[in-house]
Amino acid sequence: MYCKKNKIYLYIIFDLKSSIIITFFISMNSHNKHFQKRYLITAALPYSNGKLHVGHIAGSYLPSDIFVRYLKLNQANAMFICGSDDHGVAITITAEKENKTPRETAEFYNQKQKENFVSLGINFDIYSSTCGNPFHTKTSQDLFLELYNKGYFDKIETDQFYDTVKNKFLADRYVKGECSYCGAKNQNSDQCEECGKALDTETLKNPISMLSQTPAILKKTTHWFLDLSKSESIVAEWLEAAEIKENTKNFVKGLLSTGLVKRSMTRDLTWGIPVPLADPEAKDKVLYVWFDAPIGYISNTKELCQRKFGSADKYQEWWKDKDCKIYHFIGEDNTIFHAVIWIAMLHAEGSFNLPTGVAVNNFLNIKFSNTEAAEKISKSRGSAIWIDDFIAQGGDPDGLRYYLTMIAPEQARTVYNPLDYVTRYNSELGNVLGNLVSRVVAMVNKNFNGIILNLDPAKLDESSKRIFGLLKNTQQVVGENIENYYFKSALEDVMNFCRQCNRYLDEQAPWKLLKTDQEKAQFILSWTINLIKDISILIQPFLPFTSAKIHKILKINSYALHWNNIGETLPEMQIGQAEILFPKIE
Ligand code: 2FM
Ligand code: ZN
Repeated sequence: MYCKKNKIYLYIIFDLKSSIIITFFISMNSHNKHFQKRYLITAALPYSNGKLHVGHIAGSYLPSDIFVRYLKLNQANAMFICGSDDHGVAITITAEKENKTPRETAEFYNQKQKENFVSLGINFDIYSSTCGNPFHTKTSQDLFLELYNKGYFDKIETDQFYDTVKNKFLADRYVKGECSYCGAKNQNSDQCEECGKALDTETLKNPISMLSQTPAILKKTTHWFLDLSKSESIVAEWLEAAEIKENTKNFVKGLLSTGLVKRSMTRDLTWGIPVPLADPEAKDKVLYVWFDAPIGYISNTKELCQRKFGSADKYQEWWKDKDCKIYHFIGEDNTIFHAVIWIAMLHAEGSFNLPTGVAVNNFLNIKFSNTEAAEKISKSRGSAIWIDDFIAQGGDPDGLRYYLTMIAPEQARTVYNPLDYVTRYNSELGNVLGNLVSRVVAMVNKNFNGIILNLDPAKLDESSKRIFGLLKNTQQVVGENIENYYFKSALEDVMNFCRQCNRYLDEQAPWKLLKTDQEKAQFILSWTINLIKDISILIQPFLPFTSAKIHKILKINSYALHWNNIGETLPEMQIGQAEILFPKIE
């Protein structure tokens, strides 16, 4: 939906000669896209049991960051929520291996992950943690109790996996076996990574305890089960209206068609959120990590509101007011938890908004030059490219953001190939975008002392008008693609526009005009600088570091530019010197 608004834009420009900041306003009437009052975007909370690799980033963090940056560029009131997922056996297993307590493990990796995200320009408004957030325990327990009091839980004595050597009940990742749906081996006891189906004691075959490597037996214990079959129609109804990619929708429909069952929301563990019931059988039990993890989105919003507004209670404006849209960005293995169980939990609680959309990416595989075929990214097999290694070796964060978006597993699993990364970095970022900026900026500096003219769009010649039309078209298509989670297509559109700008420049050949028609040469170069300014806005969601570098070269202030400034002309001004945006990788 579009609406007409009268807007005033603020430009702040550094004048080199006088070294003062010049501020001026452009008042304009334009068709501005109408955005919702508030947006809350979450990225899956990663387990705090390891650092991050390229697969994590391609899955949920980069797409969500692009989405949020785009919303913020459009001046939408968007909050970007994340933090680590600290409970459950993923953390206790690592803690045992690393000879730390679960809390030490969680705090250590939470910090590492935070650094990894910052290094790639993934800018959460908050990166909290489920074991450190002061609101999380109460928020989770309150939600559990609300469901309990409304009669959503069944207390059931069931068979659970048990290790007879260690005398311990074995939750989730402490047991591995074969998925009875698809036959995949080495799957955790709660979910099959291959087919995404939920597993339990009946559907995991040949279970082995990870504690003693002996066969796990079944032993009776009591747990609280959420009967998901009661929520089938609610989930189906939500699914119809939700902004979800077609392949995800079909996957969830598939889950619904085989029927939903009762799932235990408690575990026999000591690390986690205590089950808030006086019942003696609840003693020494904690909430299932997949019960408290998505609630982390709510508690992290509370923590952010406490920090930002001095009132945690303001979170209600994001989770309860109907004018807030909520989007969850997740990896494929998280689908059932967000698009089925979480919907059932929220609906049963009753006062929270259901998510407007769930954006799911598939896994990223990896292909090294010394291996035959692409393989799964695996820490234990050493087939991972870690973010901190990539950065420490001088890798360009925008180069990685570019490549991961271009090979994004948006519809199916795709492959990261380090050689392909180098080729695309050099030939696309370097030759197309880098070259465009460096040659135009250098010519303006060499021939016109860095001065560009204020151009009247009404007086453009035919080819400049044509490229202006392409620009406005690109702006619209890129926006639509981002809004529909097609980030790869959106970035391709931007790069195609850069190619068109190079073509325009080659056709106009200002280097020849310099000898015959200085005025026309300055016009063409000034117009191309305007286009580069527009490209710097178009790429901002994808390549924020490069966008800021271009702003520095052009001496315009990144924070004053918005999506709607695309197509507006710059005043007469002096730009700065060129710098190499993408040094060639040999
Ligand atoms: O798969 C994972 O890494 C989970 N820790 C994701 C949790 S998402 C949310 F529910 F918090
Ligand atoms: Zn399976």
